[in-house]
Amino acid sequence: MLLGEAPGKTEDATGLPFIGSSGRLLDFILKEVVPFFGLVTNTVCCRPADNEQYNREPTPPEINLCRDHITELIDHYQIQGIVYLGKIAQSYDTRLPKVNLMHPAFILRMEYKYYTIQKQRELLNNFIKELTTPKLSSNRKANNGLHQKTKSIQ
Ligand code: URA
Repeated sequence: MLLGEAPGKTEDATGLPFIGSSGRLLDFILKEVVPFFGLVTNTVCCRPADNEQYNREPTPPEINLCRDHITELIDHYQIQGIVYLGKIAQSYDTRLPKVNLMHPAFILRMEYKYYTIQKQRELLNNFIKELTTPKLSSNRKANNGLHQKTKSIQ
């Protein structure tokens, strides 16, 4: 599951996360990442804004209000790991394996984006690999990582 911060104006109008300029950058980043099943959502379901024009960061009570919804998504879709997009999302604790990426809106404001975009892809690819690689059981570890002992034949 990819967890962003909060819907912006476009997202609020349509009910879909990450479909504005940040969303287009997120799609561009994901295009070069190994395929995985994922959901994209936000720490809060409504746009936090004190006026029509400016978004603001969601407050901890607002984030708490949406917590049950996110927990339900995690349970329903049996989410195995969380990709946090930006510092607000990173303050969220789900106790699942996680990776912290930069928020696409932050990357959009950077002058030199190429290296940063590549870095996000690399972090995400490593995370997906880590999640999808079968873990050795403690028994196997105790046996030097081998499922069975080896036997020499002549
Ligand atoms: N930024 C976010 O954090 N979420 C969105 O859905 C859109 C922009």
